[in-house]
Amino acid sequence: MQALNGFRDFYPEAFAQRAFLFETWRRVASGYGFVEYDGPPLESLDLFTKKSGEEIVGQLYNFVDKGDRPVTLRPEMTPTFARMVAARHRDYKKPLKWMAVPQVFRYERPQKGRLREHYQLNCDIVGEESLSADVELIACLVDVLRAFGLTSKDFVIRMSDRQFWIDFLKENGVPESEWYLKLQAIDKSEREKPEVTRDKLGPLAEKIEKIFAEGASSERISTVVNGLKAMGLEEYVQVDFRIVRGLAYYTGIVFEAFDRSGEFRAIAGGGRYDSLLKNLCEVDLPALGFGLGDVVLAELLKSKGLLPEVPKQLDYYVAIAEESFREQALGLIHLLRDKGNRVDYPLISQKMGKQFESAESRGAEKVIIVDALILQGIVSVKTVATREQVQVSILDIQNSDAI
Ligand code: HAM
Repeated sequence: MQALNGFRDFYPEAFAQRAFLFETWRRVASGYGFVEYDGPPLESLDLFTKKSGEEIVGQLYNFVDKGDRPVTLRPEMTPTFARMVAARHRDYKKPLKWMAVPQVFRYERPQKGRLREHYQLNCDIVGEESLSADVELIACLVDVLRAFGLTSKDFVIRMSDRQFWIDFLKENGVPESEWYLKLQAIDKSEREKPEVTRDKLGPLAEKIEKIFAEGASSERISTVVNGLKAMGLEEYVQVDFRIVRGLAYYTGIVFEAFDRSGEFRAIAGGGRYDSLLKNLCEVDLPALGFGLGDVVLAELLKSKGLLPEVPKQLDYYVAIAEESFREQALGLIHLLRDKGNRVDYPLISQKMGKQFESAESRGAEKVIIVDALILQGIVSVKTVATREQVQVSILDIQNSDAI
């Protein structure tokens, strides 16, 4: 039996890689003052059908539960975040900076960079209208990616202003009911045939294509670019009005991170959603955030050789030369574990050669050999990488933290 199509089994090596991504995410985001929260993976269906937009509604993993309630696995974190913040915003000082690492589920066609489940780092800020919050958020995304060793040659954050497009649609007499369709057509324009986009954009196609080609100006964008310049991060961002984002709730600055070679799907995406809390929960608070997925990021890091080998899993492997020394060995193992070391040993009698093989395959840093010397209170400690071997007394181990 296999896992469902688009779902992953995390064997230990894959799990170690995932843990490495999560640790880096959490380290950088907490360095920006984001604090972690989580919510339920299963939510009521209407939380996502109300405001996220058709695209994500078409990808929901929804069903009716045994109490006849329409429910869905979360396809993203933002509506849950909005619901949670709206319910208890008075308990927290603004601006509030929260992060989460949820597993999210979307019924998409599995393909390179797109699965039916993935993990997402979400960083969101609530309660700050000023564009300095947008600068802070984009800087955080840049620094998360830089923390993996990626440089401005590897990725770029393409940034735009959805409000600019909304103003454009208004000025050109497009009724509000059609805005989302037009924005979606712009969002998809790079992945669809030009005729399809032109068809969707109708009479505005030519004007919009001109903006794609020549760019446009927006005071908001200039302010954010200047802020990022002041942080020395301008080489990581590029203004590009083709970015509008597929989700319906964005209202202001929006952005997406891509690899420079254009080989992969979007690495991350986000923006301002100043009306979502009000529309969902009647709480009028400005908000902005981004989601960074683990799938494309891992593909990109792998292609650049930036994914570390499986990290060492053990500090010590205790090799037992003869069964008659097992009891003393168990005492030593317990002592080492009490001191916070990761220690393993053979559960049954084994030839020394086999024990050394186990030590190496488990990635042990050092092998401690318990043989006849133990009768004098001494063990041999062999460093696996250098093959160097020294003798250490049990008393010394008892009195120190490291061998
Ligand atoms: P999103 O652009 O839908 O935004 O997703 C963010 C990132 O999640 C994408 O750039 C991509 O890396 C990853 N991703 C999305 N779908 C899949 C998939 N099927 N398989 C693998 N990775 C995927 C959001 O979800 C927003 N809620 C982000 C946000 C937070 N906006 C404000 N706050």
